[in-house]
Amino acid sequence: MRISDPRFAFIIHPIEPREDVRRRYPWLARVLPEGWIHFFSGLWPPLKLSDIEGIESRSTGERIRGWLLACPLTPQRMRTSRLEFVYRKIIQTGRLAERLGAHIVGLGAWTAAIGDAGETVARALDIPVTTGDSYTVAVAVAQLQRAAQLLEVVPWEGATVAVVGATGAIGRAAADVLADQVERVLLIGRRARGLQRVADELQTRPRRATIEVTTDLQRLEEAPFVLSATTAGRAIIHPRHLRPGSVVLDVALPRDVSRQVSRRRDDVLVLDGGIVRVPGPVDFHFNFGLPRGLAYACMAETMILTLERRFECYTIGRRISTDKVREIARLGAYHGFELAPLMSLGRRVRSLQWERVRHAARQALAQRM
Ligand SMILES: NC(=O)c1ccc[n+]([C@@H]2O[C@H](COP(=O)([O-])OP(=O)(O)OC[C@H]3O[C@@H](n4cnc5c(N)ncnc54)[C@H](OP(=O)(O)O)[C@@H]3O)[C@@H](O)[C@H]2O)c1
Repeated sequence: MRISDPRFAFIIHPIEPREDVRRRYPWLARVLPEGWIHFFSGLWPPLKLSDIEGIESRSTGERIRGWLLACPLTPQRMRTSRLEFVYRKIIQTGRLAERLGAHIVGLGAWTAAIGDAGETVARALDIPVTTGDSYTVAVAVAQLQRAAQLLEVVPWEGATVAVVGATGAIGRAAADVLADQVERVLLIGRRARGLQRVADELQTRPRRATIEVTTDLQRLEEAPFVLSATTAGRAIIHPRHLRPGSVVLDVALPRDVSRQVSRRRDDVLVLDGGIVRVPGPVDFHFNFGLPRGLAYACMAETMILTLERRFECYTIGRRISTDKVREIARLGAYHGFELAPLMSLGRRVRSLQWERVRHAARQALAQRM
């Protein structure tokens, strides 16, 4: 039977604790030490943050609605708590989605990355669950490709792209997609054996790109394009790591790239990763930190599946299939989801910034020849 009023829920959690508390309880953020925010986050029950309305398919004209739910655990609290406790909290939030009447629930940021990446949560709930990672990968790769087109220094097919966090769900799948598009992919991570395993798996069929692995972040100097998606929970990429003229797409939440890079390196562009424009007069009735009309790609995956009435566990676990990455990109485009303008720290990149980075990239290239 066709569902006449398809609804979704999406689970978010505090990313930058003080900033997140300030948006909802400004007075509390002023008085509460940050350590307390981490601690208290675990005591709070899951809550409905807002109703989402106005998402409208550009192809079918259908409107859907949903809810933003909070799983009140900070990344630090998730990392330091027992996994069972964290799962329980996410499942409780999923149960809230069920009670509200959602047909599918999406997991945001660390609620998707923690433990077995949604598998336990999906088994416990009566509605399907998706992490949104397939669409995040599609959007992140498309953003880097667009940056390469705007820079006009190296053709995308001839580019070297470094993937930081290449053993993770998003990093591995992004490397998989990139390996068929660019000239060289550099897999970067903490564990040499894990990285080599990923490289071996990617090379079980012929690839356009040569694939190399390293645990040395300093080798970012070799890459004009970087995609970073770790769960370090703190800045791991610093100004000294990056070569002049490079573009770094930071998909991680909390961010992988130190704010010092944007402050001290005007020859480098740090882009906000995984952000799309939602079709229709969408209103989230909650400020999760993006300009109006924009959403994270992981949220958008849940919306696209709802518009398609694909109420299934679409992306679950750490093995993301590139077929699904391509499929969800196609479905997203069909319903009118599109890349957001490229942004850095929440602001649209200005033409002067592009010009500076383009100039630095050309100089860096000339020196290497
Ligand atoms: N923008 C968006 O729309 C969006 C959507 C979904 C997710 N995200 C974000 O994307 C990131 C990755 O998510 P995921 O699902 O791919 O996570 P994941 O599967 O758990 O992978 C995490 C990766 O981070 C690495 N890592 C963990 N701690 C690290 C450290 N201290 N230093 C260096 N590397 C470290 C891991 O390496 P090991 O293998 O060595 O542990 C692994 O490669 C998260 O920050 C998440 O919040 C963003």
